[in-house]
Amino acid sequence: MFETLQPQPADKILALMAQYRADPRETKIDLGVGVYKDATGLTPVMRAIKTAEHKLWEDQDSKAYVGLAGDPAFGDAMIKLVLGDAVARDTISAAATPGGTGAVRQAFELIQMARQDARVFVSNPTWPNHLSILKYLEMDMVPYRYFDDETRGVDFDGMIADLKTAKVGDVVLLHGCCHNPTGANLNAAQWEEVIAVLKSTGATPMIDIAYQGFGDGLEEDAAATRAVTAAMPETIIAASCSKNFGIYRERTGMLMVVSQDTSAKGLNQATLAFLNRQNFSFPPDHGARIVTMILNDDAMRADWMTELEDIRTSMLGLRSDLAAELQRLSGSDRFGFLAQHRGMFSRLGTTPEMVEKLRVDAGIYMVGDSRMNIAGLNAKTIPILAKAIIDAGI
Ligand code: LMR
Repeated sequence: MFETLQPQPADKILALMAQYRADPRETKIDLGVGVYKDATGLTPVMRAIKTAEHKLWEDQDSKAYVGLAGDPAFGDAMIKLVLGDAVARDTISAAATPGGTGAVRQAFELIQMARQDARVFVSNPTWPNHLSILKYLEMDMVPYRYFDDETRGVDFDGMIADLKTAKVGDVVLLHGCCHNPTGANLNAAQWEEVIAVLKSTGATPMIDIAYQGFGDGLEEDAAATRAVTAAMPETIIAASCSKNFGIYRERTGMLMVVSQDTSAKGLNQATLAFLNRQNFSFPPDHGARIVTMILNDDAMRADWMTELEDIRTSMLGLRSDLAAELQRLSGSDRFGFLAQHRGMFSRLGTTPEMVEKLRVDAGIYMVGDSRMNIAGLNAKTIPILAKAIIDAGI
């Protein structure tokens, strides 16, 4: 039967990872997949994770099933982390998922269950896997303008004009913070305008928040998600713990559905549990449990927050060092946007041909749309990258 299978398009981020591994050059620089690396190139296990895992190893006396939506304590802890006190607890349904991607996938399926004809508005560009999953599920997607190739900031007028064409039953997918792949983000006043447009169109927001704590701070990065959720009758949120807890391979995420009409909660919660059961039954527990332990313990939480803040500020340092080096070499401010962007990524704003040239000539690996993982840089590689960018005539 398998002779009928067709080759599927390669995921461009994962394909780049494989290409990088196969490159024998010692001088190669990996700015591809979104994984944090410290100054030595290591993706460390965070201190609080080690502490929690140690404690779990000592204390855990069973690995029997927990619940289809995961441990309710994980739900409570994540709701507090992402939403704070933005909305009442009895408006929120939540289910643990295998990573943030699992939450995104479950969210799309939920949308499809609710409205077969729903269109999902996606930023142009967005994380490629958003598009890939939507296509796989045969869901309609509508790109909205987002990145301004000139300024390397947000094309806000274009975005608003496009979002105004959404209607009731449509979903607008927004990045809660640290836009992936561009690094360009809305300010608070712009978020308010987006909320006003969402309200006037009646479209439902879906927020993907995968980098909380990597942009302007834990609370700051959640502010837009909280503002949207508080303002709208219904909001869908896909949250990830992969990056801010550094537990990429543990697959720890959470799908939240907020309905201000509290009578919807029972059905929402049951539907999330049903969807989990259909797709993978019980969600993974290990990552969720250690996150819960950390968030509910003062000492571990404080340690985690300190380390996360160190990661965030180190990425800000890399951004400003790269921008300064490019300013020095180019004698212009045209790379100043790198210091303004937030999160793990920046879109350099050059052609796929230039990206390929950087890879072939200088062993610099970035995604074809010129997305760079800033955390892949260090003091040694910043001057090399800057020189290669200028030498290539970018
Ligand atoms: C990325 O965008 O690089 C990360 O979210 C990893 C992934 O799964 O693509």
